[in-house]
Amino acid sequence: MLEKIEQIKSDFDKALQSIGDAKQLEDIRIRFLGRKGLIAQAFTLLAEAPADLKPKLGQGLNQLKKEIEEQYRKAEEAFKEKEKKARRLDLTLPGRKPQNGREHPLIQVANEIKEIFKSLGFVIEDGPEIETDYYNFEALNIPKTHPARDMQDTLYITEDIVLRTHTSPVQIRVMERQKPPIRMIAPGRVYRRDTPDASHSPFFHQVEGLVVGEDISFADLKGVIQAFAHKMFGRDIRVRFRPSFFPFTEPSAEYDFSCVFCRGKGCRVCKGTGWMEISGAGMVHPNVFKAVGYNAEKYTGYAFGMGIDRIAMLKYAISDIRLFFENDLRFLNQF
Ligand code: DAH
Repeated sequence: MLEKIEQIKSDFDKALQSIGDAKQLEDIRIRFLGRKGLIAQAFTLLAEAPADLKPKLGQGLNQLKKEIEEQYRKAEEAFKEKEKKARRLDLTLPGRKPQNGREHPLIQVANEIKEIFKSLGFVIEDGPEIETDYYNFEALNIPKTHPARDMQDTLYITEDIVLRTHTSPVQIRVMERQKPPIRMIAPGRVYRRDTPDASHSPFFHQVEGLVVGEDISFADLKGVIQAFAHKMFGRDIRVRFRPSFFPFTEPSAEYDFSCVFCRGKGCRVCKGTGWMEISGAGMVHPNVFKAVGYNAEKYTGYAFGMGIDRIAMLKYAISDIRLFFENDLRFLNQF
């Protein structure tokens, strides 16, 4: 019986070492001090002990019970104190800054372009990215044999349905449902069958511009592009037009801005020329007016394209278009 008392005592000491959570603490209480716990059991055994030993054993047991109760109380207190400390706020810790999202650089630049054209009296239009052959090509005076329709460039869904290769089909959709005067831009995503590299991506972004009315001239086109260049890149930027060809405009031109990095002096980015190619433009072809039922004798108009990705790359001196589409936060956090 005395041995038993020693055993309970040493088991209890061992158990106290391993209090990890409130449940373990409670388990110890039940195991030793519970109604059917080890101490209660020992008292039951006491009844069967020889009469002459009873007083000594009883004393020993009572002593054990007192000690265990006392130690348990202390352990419980220490445990609760420890928990309280762990929960207390450390006011000296620096605050945690939430990671705020922000607009993608291409969205920022697109918004800037939209604001500039809105200030020039343009309205914003929109069209589907999945287009029919008719809107993407046919109505824009791009015949079946035109090289732009080559499987190399166009992503076909069916023979008659494509992912639009440019934003120009929005011109057709707007003119079909609206009479002149028209003064619109249409920003959006376009698709081409290209292998990605520093300057190519299978999808990118364009802004289409279209102005139709009476007595609209090439001089108006030049004025608007010039005004855009000044507002976007600064008043010292010069614009030049070079003769070119597009099926949906006649005459057609490509236009360049003087290099935004060297301001036209010639540098590595503009390959020493002082100029950077932007996109194409021209006077709306009579066949395009015919396709939408406009009177080509009465109305004239100009149209232009613009690459949003390209403008953004110039604005922020970004040398690889793929950076826009990789969503690397180290890149995006800089805007
Ligand atoms: N659609 C042409 C392209 O994707 C860009 C363009 C050129 C648009 C001339 C026009 C234009 O409106 O007049 O390369």
